[in-house]
Amino acid sequence: PVQVRVPAIGLVVLVGITGSGKSTFARAHFKPTEVVSSDFCRGLVADDENDQSATTDAFDVLEYIVGTRLRRGLLTVVDATNVQPAARASLVRLARSHDVLVDAIVLDVPEAVAAERNRERPDRDFRSHVVARQHRDLKRSLGRVRKEGFRRVHVLHGVDEIAAAEITRER
Ligand code: CTP
Ligand code: MG
Repeated sequence: PVQVRVPAIGLVVLVGITGSGKSTFARAHFKPTEVVSSDFCRGLVADDENDQSATTDAFDVLEYIVGTRLRRGLLTVVDATNVQPAARASLVRLARSHDVLVDAIVLDVPEAVAAERNRERPDRDFRSHVVARQHRDLKRSLGRVRKEGFRRVHVLHGVDEIAAAEITRER
């Protein structure tokens, strides 16, 4: 299995299209309080985790929470798609401004797998073009994410590799 080493103190940025399994992965490997998700923050500011008009406010809240945790020396995982370079750049900047390490974990699943999973989700209403666009962004990201300032970029390819991955916290 792929060994994913993450800093004891610092930031872990999940990257993956909707339905790739980020929240499931985060639940399996991290404490609930270590994970800050864009959906949760959208809920906080809009009473609706799907309200896309709340995205800017939700990310302000997310960055505030993440920044506070980093300042307090707590490992923090960002659960958001982060398929766009600008989203990752903000998080790398945030980690830098707190002098902590930042790693990325990329969940690279086939678009069809994610689309099929999303069909089963009552809480999600993403049109297929949204998933397709995210998938395009993700594929482009694979070629540049290693130059974006992350200490390590762990790319997990496919459902099996993601399921078998083992997380090790550095000491
Ligand atoms: N799922 C699954 N098997 C996995 C991972 C996820 O069947 N190995 C299912 C989950 O139960 C969920 C759906 O796929 O119903 C999406 O998984 P989730 O972890 O919620 O995906 P995210 O990447 O977090 O999606 P989003 O960006 O929309 O939050
Ligand atoms: Mg999720």
